[in-house]
Amino acid sequence: MTMTPERWRYLGRYSRELFGSQDDHLATMMDEAVAAGLPDISVTADVGRLLMILTLLTPGRLAIEVGTLAGYSGIWIARGLSDTGRLITIEFEPKHAEFARSQFDHAGVGSAVEVRVGAGIEVLSGLRDELAPGTVDVLFLDAIKTEYSDYFKLARPLIAPGGLVLADNVYATGAGWVDEGHGTDEFNRLVASDPDFEAVAVPLRQGILIARRNS
Ligand SMILES: C[S@@+](CC[C@H](N)C(=O)[O-])C[C@H]1O[C@@H](n2cnc3c(N)ncnc32)[C@H](O)[C@@H]1O
Repeated sequence: MTMTPERWRYLGRYSRELFGSQDDHLATMMDEAVAAGLPDISVTADVGRLLMILTLLTPGRLAIEVGTLAGYSGIWIARGLSDTGRLITIEFEPKHAEFARSQFDHAGVGSAVEVRVGAGIEVLSGLRDELAPGTVDVLFLDAIKTEYSDYFKLARPLIAPGGLVLADNVYATGAGWVDEGHGTDEFNRLVASDPDFEAVAVPLRQGILIARRNS
């Protein structure tokens, strides 16, 4: 059987229909975001649920996200944290950060989430000095695709044993497929060849990388 683009799109719809249930706030917040001038480029609800499930499988003490947008994926991650867990989410555009803060409050996770405004590389560099090594249970990358390798190298010492590195768009972006030069081929190879991580990517939406730090 050949995986045609039509078949890929069909399975995407099937996955969203079956695994994409969500509350009314999550279901409507990206419409509100678009009305406020933000781009409609969040993950889908099935991917959000995957992020929450994977976070729930960790101790859920501290998560870092690079690329907040409206807060959609961040709400899913925050719902997987422990009672005292927190999410630091990094966003370059102040307008997106402000919108996301209001959505985190609306979702009831505002006290667990801190939105930091700045470029991912710079904010992660600062977090390396601020946070103790091995204290991050989940790192989710969803900002500049060509910078994923830099984000990973910067955050790597912070990842806890058993901690997860997750990344969106590892098989494709809106512009095309990873084997056509789009997506995050260099990053995928970097993580796949790291002896301290077990890594795989699942073909959900545009590809989600899941890597677990061994020790
Ligand atoms: C694909 S969207 C994130 C979607 C979000 N994770 C979700 O699924 O709900 C990427 C976001 O990264 C932000 N961004 C762009 N360049 C950035 C950078 N250098 N550092 C951090 N964020 C950046 C964009 O403004 C945008 O809001």
